[in-house]
Amino acid sequence: MVEAPSAPHSDAGEEKRILSGMQPTGALHLGNLEVLRAWAKLQHEYRMFCCIVDWHALTTMFDRTQEIGPAAQAVAADYIAAGLDPDRCSIFIQSHVKEHAELHLLLSMVTPLGWLERVPTFKEKRDNLQLNEESVSYGLLGYPVLQAADILVYRAHAVPVGKDQLPHLELTREIARRFNNLYGPVFPEPASIVNEATAVIPGLDGRKMSKSYNNAIYLSDDADTVARKVNEAFTCPTKIRKTDPGIPENCVVCQLRRVYDPDGYQTSWEEDRQGLRGCVQNKRELTEILNATLEPIRKRRKELLADPESLARYLREGEDRARALASDTMRDVRAAMHL
Ligand code: TYM
Repeated sequence: MVEAPSAPHSDAGEEKRILSGMQPTGALHLGNLEVLRAWAKLQHEYRMFCCIVDWHALTTMFDRTQEIGPAAQAVAADYIAAGLDPDRCSIFIQSHVKEHAELHLLLSMVTPLGWLERVPTFKEKRDNLQLNEESVSYGLLGYPVLQAADILVYRAHAVPVGKDQLPHLELTREIARRFNNLYGPVFPEPASIVNEATAVIPGLDGRKMSKSYNNAIYLSDDADTVARKVNEAFTCPTKIRKTDPGIPENCVVCQLRRVYDPDGYQTSWEEDRQGLRGCVQNKRELTEILNATLEPIRKRRKELLADPESLARYLREGEDRARALASDTMRDVRAAMHL
């Protein structure tokens, strides 16, 4: 685990809080799962707020809003199926806690435009999604300000994420610092928590696994779909025959094996390097390992989605706890800003 510089804000003895979130832009995938597994461990040490960030999803899905609600329900089911305990952590939908929007507005007044234009994820989205000028909205540029509001409205001390989110967290700390300098010490500067071993899970084509690259294995994929996708995954390009020595570092199948078989992968990597095993065996074994990991999650998410009342209750309870804390923070924010 890597921790970024920690808070100057002194609150020794106070409870430690975590906020993190995922976008309901579609089903969650293995890259998201690794972050979820980290959350599941942290829920025993911290007071956790696990947000489903539907307003963020609007930045790219503003013309398909009818898909966001059902996706948010599925993300809630995935959170719980992956190990979050709804009694221990607060699971909720961002748009149900309006304080996020108010803080976003206030923080937008103290965030220089230049900071946002420099954020690499903004440039990446603009280029990779081939957005035309009409689709690059004010909201898309302000995405990291809304993310800062999500975190700061709970005065979170730490934020567990994958590596792609680090620029957003750096910006969150800068915004918090600027706010505190202008109006007094309201916010701690949140540390990022990134697990080095799983910071970037590769997709089937070797790029970062992502919903938008069409290279993901989803938590909802059935066993046959997982097998088909693993079969199509990129392997080491210089290993043509089984006896050719492989370079596991260049093979998506070997990389995924390291994540999902952390105790046993070394033997298979060594055999791969020595040309003692081929891609077919690697793919068959990875499929088995992934399906063994995913099967209990698939089962639990199915049960949860078949019981919408319980899911709604978990979300309502999470939302009430989140709102109570967020409204306390907003009282302090308004007072600090003389509003
Ligand atoms: P999102 O929905 O893109 O991703 C959710 C989380 O999954 C991680 N992740 C990955 N980790 C490793 N390998 C991958 N291939 C991979 N793909 C995704 C992401 O790093 C993230 O931790 N901006 C956030 C959502 C957000 C948020 C927040 C996060 C909104 N407000 C406040 C933390 C705190 C995002 O786009 O997540």
